[in-house]
Amino acid sequence: MRTVTKDTITDVFLGYMAPDADPRLREVLTSLARHLHAFVKETGLTHAEWEKGIELLEWAGDISDKERHEFVLLSDLLGISSLVDMVNFVPGGTSSSVLGPFHIAGAPDIPMGFDMKRNYPGDVLLATGVIQAMDGTPIEGARIDIWQTAPNGLYSSQDPEQDTYSFHGIQTTGPDGRYAFTTVRPVSYEVPTDGPGGALLDATGRHAWRPSHLHFIVKADGYRTLVSEIFADDDPYLDEDAVFGVREDLVMHYDEQPAGTFPDTGFQLSGKVDGPWLKADFDLVLTPA
Ligand code: BEZ
Ligand code: FE
Repeated sequence: MRTVTKDTITDVFLGYMAPDADPRLREVLTSLARHLHAFVKETGLTHAEWEKGIELLEWAGDISDKERHEFVLLSDLLGISSLVDMVNFVPGGTSSSVLGPFHIAGAPDIPMGFDMKRNYPGDVLLATGVIQAMDGTPIEGARIDIWQTAPNGLYSSQDPEQDTYSFHGIQTTGPDGRYAFTTVRPVSYEVPTDGPGGALLDATGRHAWRPSHLHFIVKADGYRTLVSEIFADDDPYLDEDAVFGVREDLVMHYDEQPAGTFPDTGFQLSGKVDGPWLKADFDLVLTPA
């Protein structure tokens, strides 16, 4: 008889895996088991503590659905999503950053210069830039899926006052690789705190704030899909994002413009504008597939 001890359980567990298990699965599970077992031993984890952990995961399962992705939020708050981004970074390309739980499929196509701001209050921002390859060649036919919150800090899926696709849209680049749309200046906001993610923050004395940002997913034939966000350089939470999404190359600067149409584009706004006009020029570099 070969009984299991705390010194042998990891090897015994690994020995249970079939010899023909997928090699990458074996590698990942082996490492995961080693780290999880070491974590239990290192902390001397008690039954009560482990039950609490299981309860947290069950709570996340109970409140997750097609629109609420609490496991994604837990991964974000623990820094795991950002670590996955950073270990997969390809030098020379724009950094990726957290997808977050508020992307919705099926956003409408929007033309160049589209005004997402409409009559919402807040500063107007022209967000523009070139989607390009690593050698600077503009990419024609790239599709950029953009989303952000309304000025109240809520995404459309969180806010019954908004249309399904308000502050969501997809633009396709022409031969110059350029995207350009007007919108409201993004605001800082708190990630949802009414579930286990919030409980985790609360228990550890952390805040829930994210610095203001614009999300995007860029897809183009022959290139790796880029999931990322850009952040305003004047945001007070830039250095303390609750989900660790800020990278040095993802920080944009707003240039104030005289009120009126943006002189170099002629784009007209469809809504009323009561504040200064801002412009952010931000190029996105894709890496080969
Ligand atoms: C977001 O930016 O939409 C987000 C990202 C991670 C967690 C919660 C929200
Ligand atoms: Fe966001």
